[in-house]
Amino acid sequence: MAHTSAIFESFPETSQRLLDDIEKQFQMDTKDLQKLTAHFLREFSQGLAEYNHPMAMIPSFVTGVPDGTETGTFLALDLGGTNLRVCEVELHGNNTFTLRQQKYKVSETLKTGEATVLFDYLADSVDEFLTDYASSSAPQGDLDRIPLGLTFSFPVEQTALDEGKILTWTKGFNAKNSVGKDVVKLLQDAFDRKHLHVKCVALINDTVGALLSRSYTAGKSVLGAIFGTGTNGAYLEDVAKITKLGNSSAVAKGGKMIVNTEWGAFDNARWVLPSTPFDNKLDRESINPHFQAFEKFISGMYLGEITRNILLALIDAAPKPILFSGKSTTALNTHYGLDTAVMSKVEEAWESIQEESVSEEKPGGNVIESTSAEATAKVNGKIVPPTPKVTLRFDPESVQHQMKGPSSLPASFTPQQVAALERIRAVLVEELGFSSPDDVTLRDAAIVRWTCSLVAERAAKLSGCAVAAVLVQTGQARLDGTVPDDAEKTRIGVGVDGSLIQFYPRFQIRVRDALRSLVGAEVEKVVEIGMAKDGSGVGAALCALQAVKQHPDALIQG
Ligand code: GLC
Repeated sequence: MAHTSAIFESFPETSQRLLDDIEKQFQMDTKDLQKLTAHFLREFSQGLAEYNHPMAMIPSFVTGVPDGTETGTFLALDLGGTNLRVCEVELHGNNTFTLRQQKYKVSETLKTGEATVLFDYLADSVDEFLTDYASSSAPQGDLDRIPLGLTFSFPVEQTALDEGKILTWTKGFNAKNSVGKDVVKLLQDAFDRKHLHVKCVALINDTVGALLSRSYTAGKSVLGAIFGTGTNGAYLEDVAKITKLGNSSAVAKGGKMIVNTEWGAFDNARWVLPSTPFDNKLDRESINPHFQAFEKFISGMYLGEITRNILLALIDAAPKPILFSGKSTTALNTHYGLDTAVMSKVEEAWESIQEESVSEEKPGGNVIESTSAEATAKVNGKIVPPTPKVTLRFDPESVQHQMKGPSSLPASFTPQQVAALERIRAVLVEELGFSSPDDVTLRDAAIVRWTCSLVAERAAKLSGCAVAAVLVQTGQARLDGTVPDDAEKTRIGVGVDGSLIQFYPRFQIRVRDALRSLVGAEVEKVVEIGMAKDGSGVGAALCALQAVKQHPDALIQG
């Protein structure tokens, strides 16, 4: 079989070509990002004009952002992240708050079972929290009921501050007999079934919560965004531009309203989003194929799975495996068996000893990156002498080690990089369940790190497009990089939350790089991206405060 042996002889180039090809599929240049952002703006307009668009552009009925002087104590219930959370939030009125919270697990059975069972579980969790953790479990003063704000982080067509129909479920939830029903009523009915003295007075999305809480703690912000299990953004829009509201009383009042974009569903029709076999496989095997297209490229729920799909392709590469000598593990063979947190650990191990690139937090929350020349590096303000480069000694018998890999995989490593690769190897052995460190070579570690950074880099670039689209939509920036006359010149506040933006190494720096390439350095440098810590709880409390002010009688039993 001369033909077969010829393929075997050319194995290193074949492998290298495969890696190069994968790298190419994941690359996005500025032109691609511009095209995507322009399409984002088109979908914004469509969603503002008509109901039932995938990019739902949901009016929140929250008509402004707080200024930090708000006071009061409220309960908040937060469903839609990794855990269910019940909180008691005390707003002190000086931009600060105190929060007590308790987390509860939501099992897969609850996520996909009958909705009433899920909502009974929410009510039970509130009941337990009031009994065991809240500062007071009884209504205050003359009131009969304790006000609660619900942060429900799924698409809901909101019709009032305390009313909204579930449009669809996302992020692995799919509770039966709930789509089309009012989520506040589902919750209130569960409270009433259990005779709890609690009244759900407000309903918000977590992105709205991020925008409200960041404005409360750090000053007026224009965008609240989540980069966590899912991704989404909410921003302050002119009511006049939300034309689908028709002649409603909200339109007559004019002014601004927070719109929950539900950008996770951007380009469900797949006009501009990239496509790779690894993404297609993920989508096909998900519980919502063709939905949440954008979210599937970006959020913590999916990045690990895209990475797993690539690693499996490298393990199974023909004619010779490229990774782990063709060995897989139970974790790697399991759907969603590679958590995005593992990618985070891999990149962290690599980043922690890369002296060439140091990032530091500027006062005001802007993250800046200082990249020095190869020769010297600044670590915590000290100049570190250059490190000699050494070449890793790979087993010459192993064809895997002779290949160079794609251009971004170095052929030689510094001692620090070797130490980093050893740490990555330890992470992989531990997290992916290899029986021995010998199952993972340093080259394997380098390839896994390269894979993680490809997937995360693309996610961050796409996230940058979403942020840029909001800046253009709100008149803070233009896509040609010029600055509108009435744009904010000193600070454009953006509140963010979610595990990816909080913990994934360099995620925010990568988002900012993409943002800069789209809207220009002048705008990007005044964008203050800051954590909206506990945004869901604090945002729900701020919204409950508004609701109680508007309808104080809601807390008196009729
Ligand atoms: C999903 C939900 C959205 C939420 C986001 C972040 O995209 O549909 O409502 O804001 O996740 O949690």
